[in-house]
Amino acid sequence: MANGFRKNLLVQVAQMINLEITKLVLKAFAKRIPFFRGLLWWLRSLRKSSILHGMTSREEQQYCRSYTHDTYTGIGEIVDLGCWLGSTTIPLAQGLRKNLNRYTRRERIHAYDLFLWEKWMDPYMPGCRKTYSPGESFLGEYKARTRKYSSLIRIYPGDLHQLGWIGKPIEFLLVDAMKSQELAESIVKCFYPSLIPEKSLLLHQDFKHFYTSWIHLIQYRLRDYFSFETDIPNSSSVVFRLKKRLEYDPSVVDFKSFTDREVDQAFDYSMALVGGNNSNIAAAKVMYFIHQDRTVEAKRVLDGFYHDGFAKESELAICEQRLAGTLVRAAIQSDSEQLV
Ligand SMILES: C[S@@+](CC[C@H](N)C(=O)[O-])C[C@H]1O[C@@H](n2cnc3c(N)ncnc32)[C@H](O)[C@@H]1O
Repeated sequence: MANGFRKNLLVQVAQMINLEITKLVLKAFAKRIPFFRGLLWWLRSLRKSSILHGMTSREEQQYCRSYTHDTYTGIGEIVDLGCWLGSTTIPLAQGLRKNLNRYTRRERIHAYDLFLWEKWMDPYMPGCRKTYSPGESFLGEYKARTRKYSSLIRIYPGDLHQLGWIGKPIEFLLVDAMKSQELAESIVKCFYPSLIPEKSLLLHQDFKHFYTSWIHLIQYRLRDYFSFETDIPNSSSVVFRLKKRLEYDPSVVDFKSFTDREVDQAFDYSMALVGGNNSNIAAAKVMYFIHQDRTVEAKRVLDGFYHDGFAKESELAICEQRLAGTLVRAAIQSDSEQLV
């Protein structure tokens, strides 16, 4: 009886192993044929239809997953700047885990964030494990969400200004932390020089976001170094590929040295990359002048975009509101100065 049970168990285990091997062989074979590769990805995306909590769209998450699964070679590291709740780290890790290339996967994803809750994050609280107050650490939340992949990830809690980079070659750099000119400078200085010519991809998650106007100035001055790779649909992300070795040159981030003519050229260049009239990139141009307190110029540029038919139902509306607020404040200030 005991012998019969053991034999049965052994047969079942052997059948399971056999089935897994057959599945692996079929998958490896199918991946070599484009039609089957597409089919596999489609089936996989159906299985992973639940979108991860964060500020990324399904398309951005799928891009990260398929990049590390199909394209990543392992000659450099994967860096996720501004990883927040892990909505890019997790798909990067999911793809990496299934990548069949031979290289060590341990701590290949380097995830940077302050991990400190801010007021503007409140609308995303409902998807979190607990309630956070401004200034409170959400590092535990990030660790819990990414626990399944923890061996693949090295976490860098803190200010990336101070943390910098360990200097290893970077094969994939995801940037969602160029939130100020100072951060943009740090990232260009510490991370860009580690990108590998012809190989590395740079994903700017804020390329089509109104606030971060300096991204366009930087990418314009570096236009000989990067080629356009892709514009991820239904997202703000645009991906570039490094063409040739890039040393840090402070003039690239010398934002005061940009003439208005060069600013025009930079935004024209960005718009052309994504196929023309993009209202959010237009909004970033308006924001460039708002950041500089040049409200008259900002208004002129905004009206020009509206005149040219750019969609009002876009981030241009946010700039319009900000501009109105700035103009009202300026009027109050001038009135009170005249009263004094
Ligand atoms: C827009 S959120 C990132 C969202 C995330 N990429 C997503 O799509 O779900 C920007 C992140 O940058 C982080 N950040 C801002 N300044 C930083 C700094 N100086 N060092 C490190 N991280 C920073 C913030 O804490 C925040 O989590």
